Amino acid sequence: MFFKKLSFLIISFSLALQAVVPQWHWDSIDTQNLELPTFFTGFKWGVALSEHQVSGGFWCGDNNWNNWECKKSHKGLFSTYPTIETGELSGCACNFWELYPEDIKLVKELGCNAFRISVEWSIIEPYEGQFDQAALEHYQELIRQCNEAGIEVMVTLHHFTHPQWFEDKGGFADEANIQYFVRFCKKVFKTLRKQVKLWCTINEVGPFVFQGYINGAFPPGKVLNIVLAMKVMRCMMLAHCEVYRALKTLPGGYEAQIGIVHQYLPIEMHNAGYGRAYALPDAPTKPIVSDIYSLYAFAAQLNFLERLPAYGMSFFFNDQLLGFLKTGTMFSWIPGLRLDIPDAPECNDFIGLNFYSRVVIKSDIYGVLTGNPAAGNHKKDIVFPSCLVHERMTDMEYGVCPESLYCAIQEIAKLGKPIYITENGAPDGQDEYRELWIRRYLYALSEAIRDGYDVRGYYYWSLMDNFEWDRGYSKKFGLYEVDFGTQERRLRDGAQAYREILQKLACNSSAVMQ
Ligand code: BGC
Repeated sequence: MFFKKLSFLIISFSLALQAVVPQWHWDSIDTQNLELPTFFTGFKWGVALSEHQVSGGFWCGDNNWNNWECKKSHKGLFSTYPTIETGELSGCACNFWELYPEDIKLVKELGCNAFRISVEWSIIEPYEGQFDQAALEHYQELIRQCNEAGIEVMVTLHHFTHPQWFEDKGGFADEANIQYFVRFCKKVFKTLRKQVKLWCTINEVGPFVFQGYINGAFPPGKVLNIVLAMKVMRCMMLAHCEVYRALKTLPGGYEAQIGIVHQYLPIEMHNAGYGRAYALPDAPTKPIVSDIYSLYAFAAQLNFLERLPAYGMSFFFNDQLLGFLKTGTMFSWIPGLRLDIPDAPECNDFIGLNFYSRVVIKSDIYGVLTGNPAAGNHKKDIVFPSCLVHERMTDMEYGVCPESLYCAIQEIAKLGKPIYITENGAPDGQDEYRELWIRRYLYALSEAIRDGYDVRGYYYWSLMDNFEWDRGYSKKFGLYEVDFGTQERRLRDGAQAYREILQKLACNSSAVMQ
């Protein structure tokens, strides 16, 4: 057994050595005239959001997040941090709960035919076992209005939030609690099944567990509690499979498409990034640098300050979860936490892929020792997230790297299921690179589809600015800018590109139909 695990580690370690994200020649790529699937093909062109982020604690009531926000500070990995970086509460956020009829018009104005929302468990089942009929009707009406506008809704059943009563029972740390989640999902499915075909069970198990049980930035705020983290991860994957099976046996289950949402997070080493710029074998562009590792890049692979976090995080966020979805087995070094569900590979009709960018881990000992950090923004940390020299850093911990979307699709395609890009978008407060992001990421998507990958939809994150969890309102992902004082929405200049592309595709669809 020990040798099996050891060889597993060695193989994955050397595989990690070879992971490469290509670098395309953007100067010679035409991103103005993209060849993308038209509406006629049934492709879903949409936007995404989640209830707590757009309706806030005011509407979402007694859930794990609302209570977490009210704590002023929490212990993190290295010191005590404000619970919400900006000190804000989510409040009523964009007041989507009341303003949704207007927001559906905005979705329509963009030219979308699809909308990914989440349903809030704490509103629907505020007390254990007591379902609020009015809340269920609220969602029926919201979806009715979408459908009337020609917009198909995709529903997510768990997007980081759940009722406080569920959290008090131990949440997903206790396998015995899965039944409550399954019961809630069944109730929602029975209510909405006639209006909704696309269902996501759980949004991003990896980030949810990392932030809540390792980094301490999400509720319940545990720090480096690896055992609990692995327990929760295991339980959530188990819950996903149980929900899938339960919904499939209900009337309408056969026709429904049900899948989990995975955030694929490639992690790379910065120093090894130099000299390892590749082009995909059949990409229309030429490699910028030669297609073999430079000696420097190879030597840089031995930088353990970058390698260990990159390897550990890749394993945590990607390998173990994708491995489970592929094989039904999740290995664990912790006794009793190995998960074997032989039919797990069949428990997805599609995979929802949330994808933003890769994270590049950079170390800078020289900078820290000399007090002269190479990248001015890393506040003397020895190891910190960065991007490669030719890339543009976003307002968060990653750069604009459309090539990595192509790689993400390649990776997820190995699971052998259709893919929906359930989130992708730029945090860009100054609206400086939103248009570039939209055009280039959609180019990467078009390349993947052209190369035969089965991608069936793209949902931009997000329709409008909203509550970005521990970052408060400081991160602006919205196609529409929101004035949180007046609740006015305004389409950002950079977002016009998405609207323009969708309108062109709609014209092409009608041309195809004639
Ligand atoms: C989450 C969203 C979040 C987005 C941007 C995703 O990981 O699903 O809730 O707002 O990333 O950071």
